[in-house]
Amino acid sequence: HGNFVDTPSLGQLRNRETVSVGVSLTGADKGNIVFIKEGSVDPVADCREFDESLAAEEVVVVDGSGEAAFFFPGFVDTHIHASQYPNAGIFGNSTLLNWLETYTFPLEAALEHAEVAREVYEAVVRRTLANGTTTAAYFATIDAESTKLLARICSSRNQRALVGKVCMDQNSPDYYRETTEACLQNCRRVLSFLDQELKDPKIQPILTPRFAPSCSRELLLKLGQLSQDEGHLHIQTHLCETNEEISWVKSLFPECETYTHVYERFNLLTRKTVLAHCVHLTDDEARLIKAAESGVSHCPTSNSSLTSGECKVRWLLDQGIKVGLGTDVSGGFTCNMLAVARQAHLVSRHLAMREQNQKLRDHWKLSVPEVLFLATLGGAQALDMDEKIGSFEVGKQFDAQLINLKSPGSNVDIFAWQRPTLHINHANNRVRLPPGTTNEDLIAKWFFNGDDRNVSGVWVAGNPCHST
Ligand code: GUN
Ligand code: ZN
Repeated sequence: HGNFVDTPSLGQLRNRETVSVGVSLTGADKGNIVFIKEGSVDPVADCREFDESLAAEEVVVVDGSGEAAFFFPGFVDTHIHASQYPNAGIFGNSTLLNWLETYTFPLEAALEHAEVAREVYEAVVRRTLANGTTTAAYFATIDAESTKLLARICSSRNQRALVGKVCMDQNSPDYYRETTEACLQNCRRVLSFLDQELKDPKIQPILTPRFAPSCSRELLLKLGQLSQDEGHLHIQTHLCETNEEISWVKSLFPECETYTHVYERFNLLTRKTVLAHCVHLTDDEARLIKAAESGVSHCPTSNSSLTSGECKVRWLLDQGIKVGLGTDVSGGFTCNMLAVARQAHLVSRHLAMREQNQKLRDHWKLSVPEVLFLATLGGAQALDMDEKIGSFEVGKQFDAQLINLKSPGSNVDIFAWQRPTLHINHANNRVRLPPGTTNEDLIAKWFFNGDDRNVSGVWVAGNPCHST
């Protein structure tokens, strides 16, 4: 969202120890600047103030060797079930509740075996990083040991993560459920592991009541207390994904006005809460979420695949509700956030097509920059992490992906006459640009046609964690 960063060519990047990167946000030489010290033992972790002495190094986005590259903030996946990764793409014709019983619970239960969990978690962390995801809010399983393993893997691969042990003590199969006591004890074990043993500031706990139907009142109450006792922990759960689920919650919690009121009643609606889906909210529920400053994780690939519905993102944004994007693997079929952003764009267009009032039709549409905002800074806001990540503002951590539109095998074709119409940086005013392709056009080509082949490098807090 404006944080489009010009880079030197990849060749230059590889051959220099220190690389300065001009940000085109404010134009000329006034933008912030980011430094990466490649191969340095003490990599620069954060985005720094522009340094006048480096003004001469202002660079052009496209170089003569045919590479077209730019830095983009790393993606923030606000909702992903790491444990469901093997099922990505496998969901048949099911809808949420039967999908959980037939596809999801058996798979999650299988991850109590350490070797299975290791294989799955290594794969999902590797693949999300390869797709440019620098921060993920993960659901693991009910099993504490393998939840700790997921945290260890994120830490060793340098991915920023919120890691949640899934909590469920009712309305779940016998083979995949804990008692209330065991669940709380295991939550505390994971918390103390992260705090006392792993001690990696990139990896934070997130309390994870699966959704209201799988949690008893006592469990919800104790989790709300635990969050407060520990100084406001992050919280994640599901909310108003399908109508069938909503009816079920109403019958389970008749004392609560709405589904959202269930979470509010147990102090689980906080500014550090992220609520996945929110497809079928009432006005009252939206007001409650706004008042609590909770975030919404919009998961459009999942909502379309499981035919859950279409989330009215514009309506949420109009009310000042924080919204990010989630892959929701494996309700969602891919852990690629770029694909999820595309689906968010398309779902908003479907809502527009259905709008009877012609004046309102365009209002529903989310633009490419808007959905890219949701995939980055919007996600950071929804997770209450935007003071640290989500964009290249001075003082934030350098969580970035280097996008190369012309990487080997890329699905993005840029034609010669479309290439260097971007910036001319210095004295050579004689070079006049042909009319045509703009930065926004190139971003759109990446957005619609790009994939992991265009992610040539990924950094978290300045540390490299993926390269091709
Ligand atoms: N609601 C409760 N559990 C789940 C889950 O694993 N995935 C999705 N999409 N919704 C849920
Ligand atoms: Zn989910």
